[in-house]
Amino acid sequence: ELSPIDKAKYVSARRAVDFVEDGMRVGLGTGSTAAWMVRCLGELVREDGMMITGVATSTRTADLAREVGITVKTLDEVRWLDLTIDGADEFDPNLNLIKGGGGALLHEKIVATASDQMIVIADLSKEVDRLGTFPLPVEVIPFGWQTTKALIEEMLSNVEVLGRAASLRLNGSEPFRTDEGNFILDLHLRRISNPAQLSLVLNQIPGVVENGLFLDICDILVIGNADGTVEVRD
Ligand code: A5P
Repeated sequence: ELSPIDKAKYVSARRAVDFVEDGMRVGLGTGSTAAWMVRCLGELVREDGMMITGVATSTRTADLAREVGITVKTLDEVRWLDLTIDGADEFDPNLNLIKGGGGALLHEKIVATASDQMIVIADLSKEVDRLGTFPLPVEVIPFGWQTTKALIEEMLSNVEVLGRAASLRLNGSEPFRTDEGNFILDLHLRRISNPAQLSLVLNQIPGVVENGLFLDICDILVIGNADGTVEVRD
């Protein structure tokens, strides 16, 4: 028996795989909701003989996908995808997102951008009027990261946000490392008035690799509820 939150995640994932057709190249997201989607896809492959090629957004997801019987290829082998299904940490009324809570934002953004369509699966706890309650993850190069952090904080004084603290993400007492070996700074902004401007200025700082704002990338949002109902927004 699933907990209410897992039930909500599961039903959104189950509904989203209805969009997957035989022969498709599918981007596989990262996180607990995306893990349900990978399991659902595995079932379609094993039980219905569906042929799909998966491109994973993290080593965690690649391991799970292989385990459930999905053929996993690299993005360079596949080049372009029909569809990506991924979770999110926040979504707003325009289907703009904050992602990267699981630390996979860079590969997630590359994969989603290389897809004809991106479907986001989530529950209503991720819904916000305005992005920023969830700390914004920013992937930075380890070299000079403290200088990069200082530059980000300085830049934040020129944009309209409520909070300005940046913290290095840790894994125990060590810095958390992304699949690319980079660090993550979590920006506690509370309210982002202009996500497009913020994303641009962040990515102009040399030590910044990418940020967790996914703007105009999500095409379809599938929201699952604990009572088993699903809402599709596009
Ligand atoms: C991973 O880097 C994130 O972008 C995930 O999509 C996000 O953290 C969602 O995870 P859950 O589905 O576990 O909430």
